[in-house]
Amino acid sequence: EKGNYRHFMQKEIFEQPTVVAQTLSSYLRRSDNSVALPQFDVDLSTIRRLTIVACGTSYYAGMVAKYWFEHFARLPVDIDVASEFRYRDPVLEEGGLALFISQSGETADTLAALRHCRKEGQKIAVVVNVPTSTMAREADLLLPTHAGPEIGVASTKAFTCQLAVLGALAAHMAVEKGRMSREEEQEVVRHLLEAPAALNAALDHDDDIAAMAHLIAPARDVLYLGRGQDYPLALEGALKLKEISYIHAEGYASGEMKHGPIALIDEQVPVIVIAPSGPLFDKTVSNMEEVRARGGQVVLISDSKGLEQASEGCIATIEMPEVHPLIAPLVYAVPVQLLAYHVALVKGTDVDQPRNLAKSVTVE
Ligand code: F6R
Repeated sequence: EKGNYRHFMQKEIFEQPTVVAQTLSSYLRRSDNSVALPQFDVDLSTIRRLTIVACGTSYYAGMVAKYWFEHFARLPVDIDVASEFRYRDPVLEEGGLALFISQSGETADTLAALRHCRKEGQKIAVVVNVPTSTMAREADLLLPTHAGPEIGVASTKAFTCQLAVLGALAAHMAVEKGRMSREEEQEVVRHLLEAPAALNAALDHDDDIAAMAHLIAPARDVLYLGRGQDYPLALEGALKLKEISYIHAEGYASGEMKHGPIALIDEQVPVIVIAPSGPLFDKTVSNMEEVRARGGQVVLISDSKGLEQASEGCIATIEMPEVHPLIAPLVYAVPVQLLAYHVALVKGTDVDQPRNLAKSVTVE
């Protein structure tokens, strides 16, 4: 039921503080601020390489998590879209761990990749939203997201819940591998637990985003830029926009702009820059200046610190709460979802049932 919302997608965007909190509470122990995972017959401390496979938005969650596994656990991560994975004859060490991420748990390519990994002697971990799904049944380590049924075809709350589980898993892996102390683990858990409130603060900007959607709706092409763990958010923002508003959109790593895409920039092309303040901010701002110097219409999504420093000359800004970098990808998912949603409303497209798309892709 949609309740007071116009669309399932809108309802699901607004459910995120609640469902992320629900998901976190099944992985984090508040009594001692530690991560608690389901029992699993693999000693995670012996894992030397992680293979992540998924499609679409779930793949972007995996891309964010790659930063976390590498940063916290110093675990090498190999990641691929499921439709490419099997066809490149991937090198899989006996006893390795393969991680599959899927809202539906039925995506044909992801499932085929899972079975391929099983045959190659991998242990199978699955982050899945539908607990009765095929992938859930075939997992050695089942890590459910508790987003509840996702009805809108464009994935929203499943993504932030996947990130919540993956953040907890990365911290747990880091502890198991002796890369993270108890104190550091407690700190990570505390930051993860700040996510629901920060998501609420992000949702407070719904009206601002609705107002600026009118600036984006007439565009033929839109670019999204991000760096580091915000690069997958740029890809996710572009995917959301093209899926439901049918505007051509691409996400790029900020630093890649000058290697080609900058040729596209003119006064007609809005460029959405996703850049929380922090160590990577200045670099991204200089990429943003390059875009602006060529007439690009920049929309900056940042926190008050970042906006104070760099909002001059932007056609619009969206202010996010100041958050720890670990939860920034969850928080910055909200404005890119809302922007796609409101642009689609302006364009009058069918938000919950976009053309040519199915909620669950069961053909390879
Ligand atoms: C994007 C979207 C798709 C799915 C993809 C994977 O909004 O919905 O890109 O993310 O089809 O689906 P699951 O996660 O069910 O495997």
